[in-house]
Amino acid sequence: MTVEGEDQELVARAQAARALAYAPYSGYHVGAAVRGASGQIYAAGNVENASYGLTVCAERAAVFKAVSEGERKLVTVAVATENGGSPCGACRQVLREFGLAMRVLVVDSAGRTRAYTLADLLPDSFGPEDLAERET
Ligand code: THU
Repeated sequence: MTVEGEDQELVARAQAARALAYAPYSGYHVGAAVRGASGQIYAAGNVENASYGLTVCAERAAVFKAVSEGERKLVTVAVATENGGSPCGACRQVLREFGLAMRVLVVDSAGRTRAYTLADLLPDSFGPEDLAERET
């Protein structure tokens, strides 16, 4: 699909974040850029660790940047990789917390882009509403 308007900027920010990813072990560089409801963009790359299991994916790093700056609703996320890989399951759940209707743009190094909603990527999900309904 063709990326237009403010999504172009978001994709460019994800690609720029990918260039700064710290991935010396896997060599798989990922960049993510999140647009909050305020219009602000928060971007990050994956951050690996010599203790491999401590690695943080780009999507979660970007979400944590946004939320720790006060954003509570995330509107669109762009994820940039070499091969157009999709967000992992853990990241889908973390994204879902801040916007079930969130748009997810997945882009490869040639700029080929696929668009989803979080509901496409994580159907019948568990979220904050489930806890709000609990009996006390
Ligand atoms: N990775 C991400 O940053 N996001 C994903 O959604 C999938 C995987 C990272 C984690 C690790 O640094 C590398 O890609 C290989 O798994």
